[in-house]
Amino acid sequence: MPHIVSVPKKWRKQRKSLNGTVGFVPTMGNLHDGHLDLVQRALAENDFVLVSIFVNPTQFNQASDYEAYARTFAEDCAKLDALDGAENRVYVLNPTEEDIYPDDYALKITETEDAEALEGKFRPGHFTGMLTVVMKLLNIAAADRAYFGEKDFQQLLLVRKMTEAFFVDTEIIPCPTRREESGLAMSSRNNRLSAEEKAQAAQLYALLSDFSLTDAEVVKKLEKAGFKPEYVETKWGRRLAAVWLGDVRLIDNIPAECGTEEEKHAAVS
Ligand code: PAF
Repeated sequence: MPHIVSVPKKWRKQRKSLNGTVGFVPTMGNLHDGHLDLVQRALAENDFVLVSIFVNPTQFNQASDYEAYARTFAEDCAKLDALDGAENRVYVLNPTEEDIYPDDYALKITETEDAEALEGKFRPGHFTGMLTVVMKLLNIAAADRAYFGEKDFQQLLLVRKMTEAFFVDTEIIPCPTRREESGLAMSSRNNRLSAEEKAQAAQLYALLSDFSLTDAEVVKKLEKAGFKPEYVETKWGRRLAAVWLGDVRLIDNIPAECGTEEEKHAAVS
């Protein structure tokens, strides 16, 4: 089993005693293959890996979404344990809300340009909560590298911006989106889709990838296919979308120009 460090202070002490590099993978748990890819890459590029599992209340703009978020700590640890090369090299940090917010969230990190667009329009406060917790976690982790998925592209962009602006000494490594065979981007929220909805959800990726359609035409097709789109927009060299399918909100993005996702990922990195 991975080493569990429940208190940030305990990890800081442990970190000092580790002889080697540390890769950090921040998560909210309920790990799927997309998360495991990040951990596997961190294992390949570092001597040790720290995975944080913390369902961060400040980044949820709906209490019901926060409550519905699946907490699967034992299963998550078992998945980490089964990874190649994980033995004695993986640490799990699972702090409490009090550990992370001793100031009761009085201090916050707010970005005022890119955070206002897309997700920011529909999820007020989300990026402030996300950036604040990521800054705290990066400071606790004191890692050499931190791994973020491109699925949350706006998050990745803002985290990079923050670490540059605040001179954080951890390299941010972007990792490609892991998809189901159908093309559906892996997400912890997919567990809340019925089998029928999951099949339907794959149309999001198919429509986003159809460059014969304008963004506005993709919105129309998504509506026809039973989604409630919040946005489809081309920005930052990507085509990004957020849609509702029943009561589950899905986001995805792909490179905005022709070329394979791998080629485009290489350009982002
Ligand atoms: O992407 C996530 O799971 C979360 O936004 C993160 C980075 C773990 C911060 O809570």
